[in-house]
Amino acid sequence: MENVTFHDHKPQALSLYDAVVTGLSKSDKSIPPKFFYDQRGSELFDRICDQPEYYLPSVECRMLSDLADEIAKLTGKGRALIEPGAGSASKVRLLLDALRPSAFVPMDISFDYLKSSARALAMEYPWLPIHAACVDFTHSLPIPKEVPNGPRLLFFPGSSLGNFNPGEAGEFLRLVHDTVGEDGMMLIGVDTKKSEQVLHAAYNDAAGLTADFNLNLLQRMQQELNADIDPGVFEHLAFYNGEEGRIEMHLVSTQQQTLRLNGHRFEFEKGETLHTENSYKYSPTEFINMVTDNGFKEVRHWVDDEGLFAIYLVAVA
Ligand code: AVI
Repeated sequence: MENVTFHDHKPQALSLYDAVVTGLSKSDKSIPPKFFYDQRGSELFDRICDQPEYYLPSVECRMLSDLADEIAKLTGKGRALIEPGAGSASKVRLLLDALRPSAFVPMDISFDYLKSSARALAMEYPWLPIHAACVDFTHSLPIPKEVPNGPRLLFFPGSSLGNFNPGEAGEFLRLVHDTVGEDGMMLIGVDTKKSEQVLHAAYNDAAGLTADFNLNLLQRMQQELNADIDPGVFEHLAFYNGEEGRIEMHLVSTQQQTLRLNGHRFEFEKGETLHTENSYKYSPTEFINMVTDNGFKEVRHWVDDEGLFAIYLVAVA
């Protein structure tokens, strides 16, 4: 395939082992959510996106296809398009014909998954140069040297920014600011604040896929780190923390137990939790204040009719 190149930036900044040892040594045990995404985790996440309760992707996709031409008028055609955490790159397909980017740079932490999705995209869009980069985008956004000079647009859909705490989100926005440069822009999808019931259902789907996604972290510890742990004695927990404005996901230990890993022993009380993810929800005012504080200005934003999801186009200020 001629229109695709691959770049392995070896995102080993923090290995699963280091994250587990550091995170389980704390009094409030936690592991960063990026460790959900091995091959199985990425596939489970794709299936979550098809669940009726998890409204985010369906609403966002409808908005993106309705808005593609309007967005292209505001950005102009021919920008280099960069997508951190691109996964299966399904959403960008809704924009490619309208935006006609000079190149597409999908970034993902899972190289195998990235390779297969970049190859599939390259077959579908033979006119599009694709430079796929295996990257931990929470640390850096290295742009392959093959990407042509010219204005850049970073696309960050799916409310992935919500998985950073507000301080980290600010740091990430600064990193995007420096990556896209002076005439750069960012198109970002962000989940809104809404009824607790709707949010609760979205992270507790009836098919149990979010639970499997959460519990997959324990399987990774078993399979990749040889941890002595019984995933059967942990349960999925997800709830809305209204004070913090975020969904929290945890793994709850249903009994007192000891997790053993390479000479380390981690004690869990019955009911104690391992905090695995935050998913912050932002009102448009909160979000625009945050991007403004981090070097961007609003170009336009759109909210769907039910107020479920928002898309923002911002430019470097
Ligand atoms: C990737 N991220 C935006 C998802 C979210 O909604 O926070 C991950 C997820 N966690 C549970 N379901 C989906």
